[in-house]
Amino acid sequence: MKIGVLKERREPEDRVAASPDTVKRYRAEGHEVLVERGAGTGSMIADEAFEAAGATLLEDPGAVCAAADILLKVQRPLEEEMAMLRRGQLLVGMLDPYMNREQVAAYAEKGVVAFALELLPRTTRAQAMDVLSSQANLAGYRAVLEAMAAYRRVVPMMMTAAGTVTPAKVFVIGAGVAGLQAIATARRMGAVVTATDVRPAARQEIESLGAKFVGFIPEDAATEGGYARPLTAEEQEKQAAIVAEHLRGQDIVVTTAQIPGRPAPRIVTAAMIAGMKPGSVLLDLAVESGGNIEGSRPGETVEENGVTILGPRNMPSRVAPTASLLYARNLANFLALVAQKDAEGVTIDTEDELIRGTLLTRDGEIVHANFQG
Ligand SMILES: NC(=O)c1ccc[n+]([C@@H]2O[C@H](COP(=O)([O-])OP(=O)(O)OC[C@H]3O[C@@H](n4cnc5c(N)ncnc54)[C@H](O)[C@@H]3O)[C@@H](O)[C@H]2O)c1
Repeated sequence: MKIGVLKERREPEDRVAASPDTVKRYRAEGHEVLVERGAGTGSMIADEAFEAAGATLLEDPGAVCAAADILLKVQRPLEEEMAMLRRGQLLVGMLDPYMNREQVAAYAEKGVVAFALELLPRTTRAQAMDVLSSQANLAGYRAVLEAMAAYRRVVPMMMTAAGTVTPAKVFVIGAGVAGLQAIATARRMGAVVTATDVRPAARQEIESLGAKFVGFIPEDAATEGGYARPLTAEEQEKQAAIVAEHLRGQDIVVTTAQIPGRPAPRIVTAAMIAGMKPGSVLLDLAVESGGNIEGSRPGETVEENGVTILGPRNMPSRVAPTASLLYARNLANFLALVAQKDAEGVTIDTEDELIRGTLLTRDGEIVHANFQG
């Protein structure tokens, strides 16, 4: 089969959906790989590296799309890319379908076989393909580095002849994949780390990383899929009281709380920020899905009474060379599952829970239960 890789055009995006490593793997599996020239630049992968791995480089994205049986993407296609897709073509990427339902309908209309990798069930078998985990992990790491850089003071305790510097206090809100990596990174940097979440398992994970749990665990807060449910008004109030009090003493706050398919829960309010120490820094990793922090703005840095609120967009792209490497591997593992070809063409095993979980559209229809009707 022919696998196509485009340069990502949705700003800000430096990642790419293949690496020399995965190109080699596709070639060994008997596929042809077509890469748009310059696709790897943002991830520090030269065209020559793709070529040396066995890819054919093409100048024109239209030519890549026209030839590809399978199109690999990081982000969902732009309008102009939608126009290039063709009937029967497989499209694999982070298509963000909950926020873009009309685009799901457009894939069906075009007859595209679209897979949204964010929808992979979080099972053990799916781990090697789990793009949410591979990217969130890096986002959590980088978020801490950026928040610490904005904080300007030093983070670890330093005992010097000129006196002792006390360690910075870091509070992580939401301890999923990104939050746990944020905790681990902040600990490595020598911060005193506390964290909160609402799932019972998260409490143990926070403590196993050597951080202190702050907050309360509402009953049945974890759903069957392993995600958190939205809190009731009463639970929110209880959480807000604990968070408000705790924030007063914090230097750096990284928020990562998400509820899949919904806007991110609002956890830090302007009133809480008003009670924080001047010079402290908050970073809202959920800023693009509505934000955990009141006043955070996507792509902007906001100052409120001497407190800095960072709202960086697309954190994984800020570590694109690493993020692309892992994302490309996730995709290669997923394709090994999907791209079985027989005399009839590509056979898609819709009995497989990983395929059924991610397949949005096929044969001109929306086939994913969450997007029908
Ligand atoms: N088995 C596997 O292979 C596997 C792989 C990856 C993740 N997981 C699990 O999937 C689940 C989701 O992880 P994720 O990082 O994608 O989550 P996510 O990005 O959806 O959410 C991030 C965190 O925010 C928390 N959160 C939501 N609402 C909150 C609130 N009001 N207050 C405080 N915290 C709140 C969630 O509980 C979660 O821990 C976790 O249970 C994780 O362990 C399993």
